[in-house]
Amino acid sequence: MPAKPETSVLFVCLGNICRSPLAEGVFRAVCTERGVESAVLLDSAGTGGWHAGSSPDPRSIAIAAHHGMDISGQRARKVVAEDFDRFDLILGMDRSNVDDLLRIAPAEARQKIHLFLEYATGRRADVPDPYYGGPEGFADVYRMVRNASEALADKLFERAEVPESGQASSMT
Ligand code: 4NP
Repeated sequence: MPAKPETSVLFVCLGNICRSPLAEGVFRAVCTERGVESAVLLDSAGTGGWHAGSSPDPRSIAIAAHHGMDISGQRARKVVAEDFDRFDLILGMDRSNVDDLLRIAPAEARQKIHLFLEYATGRRADVPDPYYGGPEGFADVYRMVRNASEALADKLFERAEVPESGQASSMT
Protein backbone atom coordinates (compact mmCIF):
# COMPACT_ATOMS: atom_id res chain seq x y z
CA MET A 1 0.00 0.00 0.00
CA PRO A 2 1.66 3.27 -1.07
CA ALA A 3 2.12 5.85 1.67
CA LYS A 4 1.38 8.68 -0.75
CA PRO A 5 -1.17 7.34 -3.18
CA GLU A 6 -1.41 10.27 -5.59
CA THR A 7 1.77 11.55 -7.14
CA SER A 8 2.59 13.11 -10.47
CA VAL A 9 6.07 13.26 -11.92
CA LEU A 10 7.35 15.03 -15.04
CA PHE A 11 10.76 13.95 -16.36
CA VAL A 12 12.54 16.67 -18.33
CA CYS A 13 15.56 16.73 -20.63
CA LEU A 14 16.54 18.93 -23.56
CA GLY A 15 14.95 17.26 -26.58
CA ASN A 16 12.51 14.80 -24.94
CA ILE A 17 13.66 12.08 -27.33
CA CYS A 18 16.58 10.37 -25.51
CA ARG A 19 16.74 10.56 -21.70
CA SER A 20 13.37 11.70 -20.36
CA PRO A 21 11.28 9.25 -22.45
CA LEU A 22 13.49 6.47 -21.11
CA ALA A 23 13.12 7.79 -17.55
CA GLU A 24 9.34 7.94 -17.97
CA GLY A 25 9.23 4.39 -19.37
CA VAL A 26 11.57 2.91 -16.78
CA PHE A 27 9.87 4.62 -13.83
CA ARG A 28 6.49 3.48 -15.16
CA ALA A 29 7.80 -0.10 -15.31
CA VAL A 30 9.14 0.16 -11.75
CA CYS A 31 5.76 1.47 -10.56
CA THR A 32 4.03 -1.40 -12.35
CA GLU A 33 6.39 -3.93 -10.75
CA ARG A 34 5.48 -2.46 -7.36
CA GLY A 35 1.74 -2.37 -8.05
CA VAL A 36 1.47 1.41 -7.78
CA GLU A 37 1.08 2.34 -11.45
CA SER A 38 -2.49 3.58 -10.97
CA ALA A 39 -1.30 5.89 -8.18
CA VAL A 40 1.05 7.90 -10.39
CA LEU A 41 0.64 10.32 -13.26
CA LEU A 42 3.80 10.27 -15.36
CA ASP A 43 4.94 12.23 -18.38
CA SER A 44 8.08 13.63 -19.94
CA ALA A 45 8.92 16.81 -21.83
CA GLY A 46 11.82 18.79 -23.23
CA THR A 47 12.98 22.31 -22.50
CA GLY A 48 13.46 22.60 -26.28
CA GLY A 49 10.72 22.00 -28.82
CA TRP A 50 12.75 20.97 -31.89
CA HIS A 51 11.58 17.37 -31.76
CA ALA A 52 7.96 18.01 -30.75
CA GLY A 53 5.72 15.26 -32.11
CA SER A 54 8.61 12.84 -32.69
CA SER A 55 8.97 9.32 -31.36
CA PRO A 56 11.83 8.68 -28.94
CA ASP A 57 15.28 8.30 -30.50
CA PRO A 58 15.62 4.78 -31.99
CA ARG A 59 18.53 4.14 -29.61
CA SER A 60 16.33 4.86 -26.58
CA ILE A 61 13.58 2.67 -28.02
CA ALA A 62 16.16 -0.10 -28.56
CA ILE A 63 17.68 -0.05 -25.06
CA ALA A 64 14.19 0.04 -23.53
CA ALA A 65 13.12 -2.91 -25.70
CA HIS A 66 16.26 -4.77 -24.69
CA HIS A 67 15.01 -4.51 -21.11
CA GLY A 68 11.43 -5.48 -21.98
CA MET A 69 9.85 -2.03 -22.27
CA ASP A 70 8.06 -0.46 -25.20
CA ILE A 71 8.45 3.32 -25.21
CA SER A 72 7.84 3.71 -28.95
CA GLY A 73 4.36 5.18 -28.44
CA GLN A 74 5.65 8.26 -26.63
CA ARG A 75 5.73 11.58 -28.50
CA ALA A 76 8.05 14.46 -27.69
CA ARG A 77 6.69 17.75 -26.46
CA LYS A 78 8.01 20.95 -24.99
CA VAL A 79 7.48 21.92 -21.36
CA VAL A 80 4.42 24.19 -21.06
CA ALA A 81 3.37 26.62 -18.32
CA GLU A 82 0.61 24.28 -17.09
CA ASP A 83 3.21 21.62 -16.26
CA PHE A 84 4.34 23.67 -13.28
CA ASP A 85 0.82 23.49 -11.88
CA ARG A 86 -0.07 19.97 -12.97
CA PHE A 87 2.93 18.02 -11.65
CA ASP A 88 4.03 17.53 -8.04
CA LEU A 89 7.59 16.76 -9.00
CA ILE A 90 9.57 18.00 -12.01
CA LEU A 91 12.87 16.18 -12.45
CA GLY A 92 15.57 17.46 -14.79
CA MET A 93 18.07 14.99 -16.20
CA ASP A 94 21.03 17.36 -15.96
CA ARG A 95 21.90 20.63 -14.29
CA SER A 96 21.30 22.68 -17.42
CA ASN A 97 17.78 21.23 -17.64
CA VAL A 98 17.19 22.22 -14.01
CA ASP A 99 18.57 25.73 -14.62
CA ASP A 100 16.35 26.13 -17.69
CA LEU A 101 13.31 24.93 -15.74
CA LEU A 102 14.04 27.30 -12.84
CA ARG A 103 14.28 30.18 -15.32
CA ILE A 104 10.80 29.61 -16.73
CA ALA A 105 8.97 28.34 -13.64
CA PRO A 106 6.68 30.57 -11.59
CA ALA A 107 8.15 31.27 -8.15
CA GLU A 108 5.63 29.05 -6.34
CA ALA A 109 6.62 26.02 -8.46
CA ARG A 110 10.36 26.26 -7.96
CA GLN A 111 10.37 23.82 -5.05
CA LYS A 112 8.99 21.10 -7.35
CA ILE A 113 12.08 21.20 -9.58
CA HIS A 114 15.01 18.92 -8.80
CA LEU A 115 17.92 17.13 -10.41
CA PHE A 116 16.66 13.56 -10.98
CA LEU A 117 19.63 11.60 -9.59
CA GLU A 118 20.11 13.94 -6.66
CA TYR A 119 16.45 13.86 -5.66
CA ALA A 120 16.26 10.08 -5.98
CA THR A 121 19.64 8.96 -4.66
CA GLY A 122 21.17 11.95 -2.86
CA ARG A 123 24.10 11.89 -5.28
CA ARG A 124 24.44 15.19 -7.16
CA ALA A 125 25.06 13.87 -10.67
CA ASP A 126 23.73 14.42 -14.17
CA VAL A 127 22.24 11.89 -16.54
CA PRO A 128 24.53 12.87 -19.43
CA ASP A 129 23.16 13.72 -22.85
CA PRO A 130 23.82 10.67 -25.08
CA TYR A 131 22.51 12.22 -28.33
CA TYR A 132 25.85 12.73 -30.09
CA GLY A 133 27.49 9.57 -28.76
CA GLY A 134 27.24 5.86 -29.49
CA PRO A 135 24.92 3.15 -28.21
CA GLU A 136 27.05 2.59 -25.09
CA GLY A 137 25.95 6.04 -23.92
CA PHE A 138 22.36 4.86 -24.02
CA ALA A 139 23.23 1.76 -22.00
CA ASP A 140 24.84 4.05 -19.40
CA VAL A 141 21.76 6.27 -19.36
CA TYR A 142 19.57 3.20 -18.92
CA ARG A 143 21.60 1.98 -15.93
CA MET A 144 21.52 5.39 -14.24
CA VAL A 145 17.82 5.85 -14.89
CA ARG A 146 17.01 2.34 -13.65
CA ASN A 147 18.91 2.83 -10.38
CA ALA A 148 17.42 6.26 -9.84
CA SER A 149 13.90 5.01 -10.64
CA GLU A 150 14.17 2.27 -8.02
CA ALA A 151 15.41 4.84 -5.51
CA LEU A 152 12.65 7.27 -6.46
CA ALA A 153 10.02 4.58 -5.98
CA ASP A 154 11.52 3.75 -2.56
CA LYS A 155 11.23 7.41 -1.65
CA LEU A 156 7.71 8.02 -2.97
CA PHE A 157 6.15 4.70 -2.02
CA GLU A 158 7.88 3.89 1.24
CA ARG A 159 8.16 0.14 1.30
CA ALA A 160 8.14 -1.86 4.54
CA GLU A 161 10.77 0.27 6.16
CA VAL A 162 13.56 -0.60 8.51
CA PRO A 163 13.75 2.31 10.96
CA GLU A 164 17.07 3.67 12.19
CA SER A 165 16.88 1.43 15.26
CA GLY A 166 17.38 -1.45 12.81
CA GLN A 167 14.10 -3.05 13.85
CA ALA A 168 11.33 -3.66 11.35
CA SER A 169 8.31 -1.49 12.11
CA SER A 170 5.03 -3.04 13.14
CA MET A 171 1.64 -1.86 11.94
CA THR A 172 0.45 -0.92 15.43
P1 4NP B 1 17.67 14.44 -24.85
O1 4NP B 1 18.83 14.40 -25.96
O2 4NP B 1 17.71 15.83 -24.26
O3 4NP B 1 18.08 13.42 -23.88
O4 4NP B 1 16.37 14.14 -25.56
C1 4NP B 1 18.92 15.34 -27.01
C2 4NP B 1 18.14 15.21 -28.12
C3 4NP B 1 18.26 16.10 -29.15
C4 4NP B 1 19.16 17.13 -29.05
C5 4NP B 1 19.94 17.27 -27.92
C6 4NP B 1 19.81 16.37 -26.89
N1 4NP B 1 19.32 18.04 -30.11
O5 4NP B 1 20.19 18.91 -30.04
O6 4NP B 1 18.55 17.98 -31.09
